Amino acid sequence: MDRNGPQAAGREDFDGLFPASVACAGSRTLAAGEFLFPEEAAAAAGFAPARLAEFRLGRACARRALRSLGLPPVAVAVGARREPCWPAGIVGSISHAGGLAVAAAARSSMLAALGLDIEAAEALDPGLIATVCRPEETRRLPANATAAAAEALLLFSAKEAVYKALWPLVRRFIDFQDVAIILDADRGGFRVRAHGDNCPAALAEGLQGRIRRLPRMVATAAWIETAAGRSGSADT
Ligand SMILES: CC(C)(COP(=O)(O)OP(=O)(O)OC[C@H]1O[C@@H](n2cnc3c(N)ncnc32)[C@H](O)[C@@H]1OP(=O)(O)O)[C@@H](O)C(=O)NCCC(=O)NCCS
Repeated sequence: MDRNGPQAAGREDFDGLFPASVACAGSRTLAAGEFLFPEEAAAAAGFAPARLAEFRLGRACARRALRSLGLPPVAVAVGARREPCWPAGIVGSISHAGGLAVAAAARSSMLAALGLDIEAAEALDPGLIATVCRPEETRRLPANATAAAAEALLLFSAKEAVYKALWPLVRRFIDFQDVAIILDADRGGFRVRAHGDNCPAALAEGLQGRIRRLPRMVATAAWIETAAGRSGSADT
C-alpha cells in the first residue's frame, strides 16, 4: 500500500511501526466536534480529569483510524476487561502516554490480532526488571545497567502490546512471565515465545512485533497476519 493509503493519515512518528494494512492516528489534541459517544461517556463516568482526557483522546484517535479505513464514526465501547470494542470486522488497539494518544486499526480480513503500546520513558525502573523479564531475558540484557534498563523497557512495552493483541483471542490474563520476547539483533522487531498455559504457543508463534524509539518515547506493535494479510490480497 502506498503512502496515500490508511497509514498516511495522522501517523505522526509511527511510520513503519505497523504493516501496510494498518491505519494509525496519533494526537495530543482533540479537534472540534470530537466528543465521546453516550456509551463511552457512561463508561468514563467518575474518571479523574487526566484519565478522562486520555480516554477522550484515545477514542478520537480510534475514530480517525477507522475513518482512514473507510468507516463512519462509531462508538468504541469499553469491554469487561477495559478492552476497546471495535466494530465487527475490525481489530485495533489504543495506547496513551505523556499526553499523546495513539490508536491503530485494521480489517480482520488482514490481521487476526493487533496490539499497540507507547511508553513515555527511556528506561524501565530497575526494580521492575525481575517482574517484567523472565530469567533468560534478564540474562540477555546488556551488562551496562543503563543499557539494560533501556532494553528492559522495550521488553515491557512489547509485552503490553502482546497482551492487548491477544486478549480478544484468549480472554485470559497473561502475566509478564508467561511470554518471552526475542528481540531482533537490530532491536527493530521481535518475536514471541509462550511459557506455560496462559498464552497459547501457536498464537505466540504467529505474532510479529516491531519497535520504534522516538525522542523520550518507545512504541511497540504486535500483530498476527491472516493468510490474506500475508499475501496482501484482501480488500482495504
Ligand atoms: C491493559 C494494560 C496492558 C494497559 O496498558 P497501560 O500501560 O496501563 O496503558 P496504555 O495507555 O498503554 O493502554 C491503555 C489502553 O489499553 C486498552 N486495553 C485495556 N485493557 C485491555 C485489554 N484487556 N485488551 C486489549 N486492550 C486493552 C484500552 O484501550 C486502554 O485505553 P482506554 O482505557 O483509554 O481505552 C495494562 O494495564 C495491564 O493490565 N498489563 C498487565 C498484563 C500484561 O501486560 N501482560 C504482559 C504479558 S503478555
